Amino acid sequence: MDNVSVGTFWGLVRTANWCRAVHQRVGAVDLLKSKEIKIVFWQESTRTRGSFETAAGRLGARYGTTVDAGKYTSELKGESFEDTIRSFSKMCDLMILRTKEKGSARRAALVSHVPIISAGDGAGEHPTQALLDAYVLNERIPNGVPGKTIAFTGDLRDSRTARSLARMLRMMKPARYIFASPPELGMTDDIKRDVSAAGIAIIETSDLRFVQKEADAVYHQRPQNNNRTGGESAEEIASGYRSFIIDKAFLEGMKPEAIVHHPGPHTFELTEEASLHPKCVMFPAMEMGVYMRMAVLLWVFGIECP
Ligand code: CP
Repeated sequence: MDNVSVGTFWGLVRTANWCRAVHQRVGAVDLLKSKEIKIVFWQESTRTRGSFETAAGRLGARYGTTVDAGKYTSELKGESFEDTIRSFSKMCDLMILRTKEKGSARRAALVSHVPIISAGDGAGEHPTQALLDAYVLNERIPNGVPGKTIAFTGDLRDSRTARSLARMLRMMKPARYIFASPPELGMTDDIKRDVSAAGIAIIETSDLRFVQKEADAVYHQRPQNNNRTGGESAEEIASGYRSFIIDKAFLEGMKPEAIVHHPGPHTFELTEEASLHPKCVMFPAMEMGVYMRMAVLLWVFGIECP
């Protein structure tokens, strides 16, 4: 995340808006027709894999996807992670990886012959999700993120999306963050240090009603059972989440223009009715995510939008 400057972020937003306008007027373009992309996922995904495939297709790139890479690569025969990356990277111009362990994206970048985009790195970071979340929040909060109160709620300790967005939004100068979680799932000290150093006030609480009254935007997280760093069982975590369920009543008790966002997939912590409510931007964000990922692909290949 740290190599995305303020200028780069706003350039990506401009390009994403351009991609949206072009897609809506003319459909697909061929700006990446000479490029080959390998999408390799060691972990399950709906949105990230789907939106990278759509983004690549709309820009005219050729791409191939390997899902469940631990099973469908020669890793199963004993090949090292590094050799899998070295091998695939000899066959394409760009790799997009979702990996299981924090730090794997960096390990891949060290041995790859082509650029790597991380599509989620265990309990580490999820940089393109943070870009699209920042894009969505800034567009959907009236007058944008600057000066606003942004709440991060639910399982913050193990959520790569919350960690990445908390860092990404620093450059947009929100006034304060509320970190609201069950006590054992609080935001980690490294992120709190980075946020405080950027001059953003932090309030920590376990009270979702406080969030409801104070926040301009809520970024809600499910229990991260697939990337858990503690020893708790899923049942123990679910029990602590009883007061972290966002429903229609929560949404309708917020400030009139406040919104809820969720990176997806949602489970019981966001009711279906709430997920489809006009104050929840989770599904609109999936469309905007394709435009942001188109912008990221163009940026990686050094292609400026006209
Ligand atoms: N937000 C997100 O990363 O969703 P997927 O796991 O479905 O890609």
